[in-house]
Amino acid sequence: MSKRIDVHDLDIYYGKFKAVQGVEMTIEPRSVTALIGPSGCGKSTFLRSLNRMHEVIPGAYCEGEVMVDGVNLYGKNVDPVGVRRKIGMVFQRPNPFPTMSIAENVLAGVKLNNQRIKKSDADELVEKSLRGANLWNEVKDRLDKPGSGLSGGQQQRLCIARTIAVKPDVVLMDEPCSALDPISTLAIEDLIEELKADYTIVIVTHNMQQAARVSDKTGFFNITGIGKPGQLVEYDATEKIFNNPNEKATEDYISGRFG
Ligand SMILES: Nc1ncnc2c1ncn2[C@@H]1O[C@H](COP(=O)(O)OP(=O)(O)OP(=O)(O)O)[C@@H](O)[C@H]1O
Ligand SMILES: [Mg+2]
Repeated sequence: MSKRIDVHDLDIYYGKFKAVQGVEMTIEPRSVTALIGPSGCGKSTFLRSLNRMHEVIPGAYCEGEVMVDGVNLYGKNVDPVGVRRKIGMVFQRPNPFPTMSIAENVLAGVKLNNQRIKKSDADELVEKSLRGANLWNEVKDRLDKPGSGLSGGQQQRLCIARTIAVKPDVVLMDEPCSALDPISTLAIEDLIEELKADYTIVIVTHNMQQAARVSDKTGFFNITGIGKPGQLVEYDATEKIFNNPNEKATEDYISGRFG
């Protein structure tokens, strides 16, 4: 399951615009990596490059390597659809399919991948995924009701259940708590802590306390000016980044002296 990611000399473009430049990063299996930095520095862009979602945008491409357990995601014979299945993504706004039931939402990714499963196996997978997302007890009596009928925090956990149902190696999360209240946020943070036992997790967050609470390592991205590419300024153990960073830019950002 959980995999190691080695990013080497990665440049990320939107057409002619180079949005991110020269990223070098090693992400260990069974760890949580937080990505922080000011708006527009390329955190989401970088995150999407880790499962080839970036190239869904017309004209968007990458140069460099993203090695996952030694295999370059951008290698010639690699199927981007397969990559997106093994490296799942949770978005900022919970996005359950509104016309689908809770159970159908959990299975949506599996069905999309054309995996045919028996009813009994499907039931088991729904329960396992919902338990894994800490949502089972809240929804077990209404699995056939619409996913859109859940609270925001529950919807986000439903989306996490949908993501882990396909048994990915890596889970990418782009500000997964930014639309949630503090209680739901803590529930997601607890969940991230648990998921770490099985998955490699990369999370973008604007919440410094959250980065400090949930992550083992933190990457600080920054831009030197408008139109310039974002760069990974510093990447280290979370404790080090928040207590004693090497770079002044990191220090300024985490202490709120940015801009
Ligand atoms: N679809 C797109 N087409 C062209 N440029 C884009 C696109 N998406 C993002 N960009 C540009 O790429 C740069 C990085 O954007 P990105 O969304 O990755 O930043 P971010 O760090 O995630 O910011 P935020 O914290 O606001 O979410 C920005 O200059 C942005 O305008
Ligand atoms: Mg973003």
